[in-house]
Amino acid sequence: MKKTILTGIKPTGQIHLGNYIGAIKPALQLAKQKEFSPAYFVADYHGLTKFHQADEFRHLSYGIAATWLALGLVPEETIFYRQSDVPEVFELNWILACFASKGLMNRAHAYKAMVDNNEKMERNADFGVNMGIYTYPILMAADILMLKTEVVPVGKDQIQHVEIARDIAESFNHVYGDAFVLPEYLVQEEVAVLPGLDGRKMSKSYNNTIPLFEEPKKLQKLINKIQTDSLPPEAPKDPESSIIFTLYQQFASTVEVEQMRAQYLSGISWGEAKKELFIVMNRFLEEPRENYKELIASPERLNEILLEGAQKARTISAPFLKEIKEKIGFSV
Ligand code: ADP
Ligand code: TRP
Repeated sequence: MKKTILTGIKPTGQIHLGNYIGAIKPALQLAKQKEFSPAYFVADYHGLTKFHQADEFRHLSYGIAATWLALGLVPEETIFYRQSDVPEVFELNWILACFASKGLMNRAHAYKAMVDNNEKMERNADFGVNMGIYTYPILMAADILMLKTEVVPVGKDQIQHVEIARDIAESFNHVYGDAFVLPEYLVQEEVAVLPGLDGRKMSKSYNNTIPLFEEPKKLQKLINKIQTDSLPPEAPKDPESSIIFTLYQQFASTVEVEQMRAQYLSGISWGEAKKELFIVMNRFLEEPRENYKELIASPERLNEILLEGAQKARTISAPFLKEIKEKIGFSV
């Protein structure tokens, strides 16, 4: 039996290189392994906790779907869907809410960070917190448990959420027997946290991103904006502390990386290093960028693919939800 491996991405901004390196690339690699059966989805209802502009939201949702496909996700070999097309997830969300203690939600990091920030700003502790943000981990638990997921590949920031999903599943199983599969997170330690233009973690919250499918001219301009020190062109430079080198490693071959390392040590100008970075990045992105443009121009096609994926998800979720409801004592 293959293990179900599941992950979701929220449509709250343009996909950037950090999302690709940290989430999409490793998930696509795992999808190719024989032991796993992948389920990847657009977490649109999670996005709604933060994003309330309808047209842009629609576009961003299709953008996430087109990105996965442009980078090589094979829909026939994946359960590839949009969260909001699987209504069983929301029924389960309520059921799980009745097994999730309020204290558990109080400790969830995204909510806690907002409260801490409000306190720092001397505002009401719950200022700006909607119930979607507060109960975010319950919906995430429903995503995971609904498809009997065993493995959840995520970034470090999401570990707590997977642990909460496990806690809620255990509370339910404690009462009704082994109903839910207990999920485990999979964090790939070797996956780099990609720095952004200013050296902090690349994140849409910091406005320091390189969007994945930027046009070549714009891509070059963004690369030119990467912050560097004021060492003269001929001075030897430390590759390990250079954002340009970190990015270069993600897209160049092993031989190219070693050549670049040698150039750093003997002295390369930042302008030259940026030019080389553009070349390897653009070489990799050219084809997916074209795929993406084609896909995003046909939302009907994307919709069709996502709805087919939702149908596949529902062959698991519908009978499983019925089982769960029977256990609870509903007549179904
Ligand atoms: P953002 O920080 O831009 O809001 P998200 O929190 O939506 O990004 O992240 C979506 C996925 O991309 C997560 O799995 C996260 O771990 C990964 N990710 C985001 N930024 C980076 C980065 N700079 N380096 C590596 N992975 C990242
Ligand atoms: N919370 C995740 C994020 O912010 C997105 C997400 C929603 C998710 N549901 C999920 C990830 C289920 C893994 C499994 O990145």
